[in-house]
Amino acid sequence: MSLPKDNKDSIPEPVKGLEGIVAADTSLSSVNGEKGILRYCGYNIDDLAFNTTFEEIVCLLYDTELPNHERLENMTERIGEARVLPKEIQKVITELAGKTSPMSTLRTVVSALGHYENNVPLSELPPKALRLVGQIATAVAMIHRLREGLPLLEADPKRGHAEDFLRMLLGKEPSQTQIQALDLYLILLADHGFNASTFSARVTAGTLANLHSAITSAVGTLSGPLHGGANEKAMEMIIKVGKPGKASDYIENAFAKKQKIMGFGHRVYKVDDARKPHLKKMATQLWKERNDMTLYEVAEEIERQVKSRKPIITNVDFYSAPLLYGLEIPTDLFTPLFAMSRVAGWTAHVLEQYGNNRLIRPRARYVGPIDRTFRPIEQR
Ligand SMILES: CC(C)(COP(=O)(O)OP(=O)(O)OC[C@H]1O[C@@H](n2cnc3c(N)ncnc32)[C@H](O)[C@@H]1OP(=O)(O)O)[C@@H](O)C(=O)NCCC(=O)NCCS
Repeated sequence: MSLPKDNKDSIPEPVKGLEGIVAADTSLSSVNGEKGILRYCGYNIDDLAFNTTFEEIVCLLYDTELPNHERLENMTERIGEARVLPKEIQKVITELAGKTSPMSTLRTVVSALGHYENNVPLSELPPKALRLVGQIATAVAMIHRLREGLPLLEADPKRGHAEDFLRMLLGKEPSQTQIQALDLYLILLADHGFNASTFSARVTAGTLANLHSAITSAVGTLSGPLHGGANEKAMEMIIKVGKPGKASDYIENAFAKKQKIMGFGHRVYKVDDARKPHLKKMATQLWKERNDMTLYEVAEEIERQVKSRKPIITNVDFYSAPLLYGLEIPTDLFTPLFAMSRVAGWTAHVLEQYGNNRLIRPRARYVGPIDRTFRPIEQR
């Protein structure tokens, strides 16, 4: 690109999409994209996946240590209590549910929740951050129940997070497999380095804006189909394909039109996403317990068809889709469920940012014309 001389000399070539740029240190999670390894605070996700609960992962991200029984009990209680939302929030949800997408409603709810919190010094911030972890779950369940005109179920702080959420959402007691599946999902999506929504939370926190502003930024960023919105789009594709035998034509056509296949590709992973095998294993189990495996088989066939045409990795969102659908969760709640998990990582990152803050402020390379002659409005 030909640039005015003084611009070209002083500003280096930008890195589009900030690919490969290391923006800060973190002690929360690390992603090895070459080997397909995700670690939370040094623990391999393969060890955590089927052996912990979401509440244990929240402890890990907040304390950078796995909890003992006492700490876990305390954490479970605190998240449980936080699932009881301020009454006024129900009015906000009633006003919006069904009129906007659940993700838009959730973004507004997170922002509104900020009105019920006072500004506190950093040392007192973790309990406030933790409240958001509980509150978002109830908000998602409420958004769904209110838009469907279904009666609301009170949160039960004594229950585990995954179990209580499913009960509040579906209005019935979930099975052990369902609880395990959702818990696994929440564990696996809780944090993932400097993904786009976490980065946007940290940019907002970096200005010393408050916690709820940072998490509102994150929810907005997550909603896009290139990030958290991909799970919903992946499921829509699976439903549209409908039968395994139709996957080949669908994928052939999508590639011919140079369309992105949702749930595939990643900026960091060069091999399949570290979370994929666990999500796939759990989704298989869920669908086996249903009488009809068709849509699950469609997903597998889409993966085969994509990979036979292009060496492209399967990301977290692809098998999240049949897992969540297998839990009877409506597709437009998939991304809010992603938020329900990732809020653990977002809030931990915001606390980390505040603890060692410097304004995050990169530069842009100006590529427009310079030294233009000004003409008063009458002469334009
Ligand atoms: C995740 C994603 C945004 C990463 O983007 P990125 O790092 O900027 O990578 P690019 O979009 O530049 O893709 C690099 C190449 O792979 C191809 N590619 C990447 N993802 C693809 C997909 N899902 N389907 C088809 N081709 C894909 C691109 O077309 C490009 O090919 P080219 O070099 O021949 O032009 C991208 O892979 C994508 O859009 N995936 C679908 C959405 C999704 O699943 N998002 C959830 C991410 S966890």
